Amino acid sequence: MKLLITGGAGFIGSHIANYYYEKSHEVFVLDNLVSGYRENIPFIDEKHFFEVDVCDTAKVEEIIKTYQFDVVIHLAAVVSVVDTVNDPLMSSEVNINATVNLLEINRLYNAQLRKFIFASSAAVYGNDPQLPKSIHSMIQPESPYAIQKYAGEQYTKLYHHLYGLPTTALRFFNTYGPKQDPNSQYAGVISIIKRKFENNETFTFFGDGEQTRDFMYIKDLIQGLVCVIDNDCTNGEVLNVGTGKQTSLKDIFHAFEASYNKKIEYRFEPERKGDVKHSVSDITELKDIGYNPQYTISRGLEEYLNS
Ligand code: NAD
Ligand code: UD1
Repeated sequence: MKLLITGGAGFIGSHIANYYYEKSHEVFVLDNLVSGYRENIPFIDEKHFFEVDVCDTAKVEEIIKTYQFDVVIHLAAVVSVVDTVNDPLMSSEVNINATVNLLEINRLYNAQLRKFIFASSAAVYGNDPQLPKSIHSMIQPESPYAIQKYAGEQYTKLYHHLYGLPTTALRFFNTYGPKQDPNSQYAGVISIIKRKFENNETFTFFGDGEQTRDFMYIKDLIQGLVCVIDNDCTNGEVLNVGTGKQTSLKDIFHAFEASYNKKIEYRFEPERKGDVKHSVSDITELKDIGYNPQYTISRGLEEYLNS
């Protein structure tokens, strides 16, 4: 199979690229390296790497016309919620317009296409207290990021219903694992805690630490993604990708104490504005096509900390 991964030099994309590369598929990465790193994908040679902005329509069109990919996995995005709050217009260009553009280019010029995947987010559910979050739950976007992800996934779905494109949008829950970049106050909390333990620094709980998340190890995300790519019945669908289990932040912190066999300082600050108290996925639809998450928090953390 010939695959194109936009955002393939980032955390999630580099793992997907590695998975398919190891299985001897031909993997191409398109990334402008704004939050990803070329070093994340040393196995991708220069012929298979396009240092291109996904908003550069002419270049994206030329690449797709030339290579005729079987699978396009679209992950490139402004991923920081805060960046989308600070610049809703610019982030809409990347998160919405570039997505529609990519769909359109595939519709017009890529008859070969077997699957188009769009990376949406659990962020679309916002603060709806009903749990677990099912694909039938209420949508309550609390940020431009969430609105943009919702728009992107709905366009993705529409391109199947209007034009028959084999598309699926996936709402990823909180993913963690090697190569996740902790270098921002708003980075994934597990990568932040790891760095605090490594450097013996004080960790700050925003809120009481009792908030819960559906933390998913990167290998479970890949298992879910592969199930979707291999099942045509997912065309035109929007699906949750999580573990169906919730864990509190305090429990994660204690698991780190046990793994590192040491204690670090911690303090409490007020809850972040717009923070979701509890989040857990309903993954019924994915389980129906054979997905079965393998990583409990302790197994995922063990592998992460030994990587
Ligand atoms: P990441 O920042 O590590 O990866 C994003 C990649 O996209 C980076 O390599 C970046 O350089 C690239 N990129 C950004 N803007 C681009 C542009 N204009 N042109 C080309 N490349 C561009 O983030 P990630 O955690 O790997 O996220 C991947 C996708 O999954 C994103 O769409 C994100 O919104 C979504 N997602 C992630 C999570 C999570 O828990 N990590 C949860 C829900 C959804
Ligand atoms: C994550 C996504 C976000 C998406 C949301 C959807 C990341 C980085 N963010 O946000 O894009 O909108 O899922 O559900 O993946 N926390 C601390 N101390 C810290 C850092 C975080 O207490 O130093 C807390 C946060 O306030 C939050 C929890 O840890 O309550 C998880 O934070 P984070 O990893 O940023 O994920 P989400 O807020 O769920």
